[in-house]
Amino acid sequence: MEEIKNSKRRQFIKDIGLVAGASALAPIILSAQSCTNKNESKRVLRVAHVTDIHMSDDNDAPNRFKKCIADVKKHNVDFFLNGGDTIMAADYGNITRERVLEQWKLWDELKGEFKGYEMYSCLGNHDMWWAAPDKTDPMHGKDYVIKRMEMQSRYYSFTKKGWYFIVLDSNNSSAGSLDQEQRTWLENELNRIPKDASVLVMSHYPILAVSTIPYGGSHTDSKYITKLFYKHPEKKIHCISGHMHLLDTAVYNNVNYYCNGSLSGFWWGEGDKDSAGKCWYHETPPGYSIIDFFEDGSVSNIYYPHGY
Ligand SMILES: [Fe+2]
Repeated sequence: MEEIKNSKRRQFIKDIGLVAGASALAPIILSAQSCTNKNESKRVLRVAHVTDIHMSDDNDAPNRFKKCIADVKKHNVDFFLNGGDTIMAADYGNITRERVLEQWKLWDELKGEFKGYEMYSCLGNHDMWWAAPDKTDPMHGKDYVIKRMEMQSRYYSFTKKGWYFIVLDSNNSSAGSLDQEQRTWLENELNRIPKDASVLVMSHYPILAVSTIPYGGSHTDSKYITKLFYKHPEKKIHCISGHMHLLDTAVYNNVNYYCNGSLSGFWWGEGDKDSAGKCWYHETPPGYSIIDFFEDGSVSNIYYPHGY
């Protein structure tokens, strides 16, 4: 038995070596132990969660991004989940139409890196151009981002291999919240799917997190959402988010919440006095998560820092 464990460990270390690329940093395992059952349940899906790409033409970000995605692909993922803030920032008041178009053009050039993979995205707070001259402008707000990101809607759901995926739009009043229409939809959605379904919820802002205690940035309606989840005790619910550029895990009422860092770290910059490493945001290195989904409703969420 011990030898089996050791050989699994050796294989794990070997696998890590194959995908670690330029990074000398060890992967960070975030899975809550009680909900991880890697050895006994069958893995049905492997998915990459990349978030806060903040694509920019500064700091050689496009080339560094390409190297990151090449590393991600070595994990043999089934598809990508993109947590939002895909472009650097369109939401500031001084951003011109030309600047917004430049950013989306850059994304169009780079999205080819995901060719051959499905990608499911959610809206980040920096993706929308609110400074458009008026609300009827075709580039104003969410609809334009939905189009550029080829999303089916600002919030939606889909199923894969027996798992239910719910993608939320956190960008509503008092930043990091669900609007009433979306609340009703989410309630109906949770009632519609099987009582004991395995569910992955992706949002941009964390629904619940640890890093939001010192830094802010949580969903402001966490109480409503956690109480809603509590009405579904037989479901196995896991939530993933970005926004913070910080890495943490929270468990509450048997629901796991993974705040999965960011691909861009310190927005592709070198960092500041608070950065614990080059390009880190506070103590979190830039990276991406590989999430394994198991038949029994458990997941394994591993964060791979990248060194690009
Ligand atoms: Fe971000």
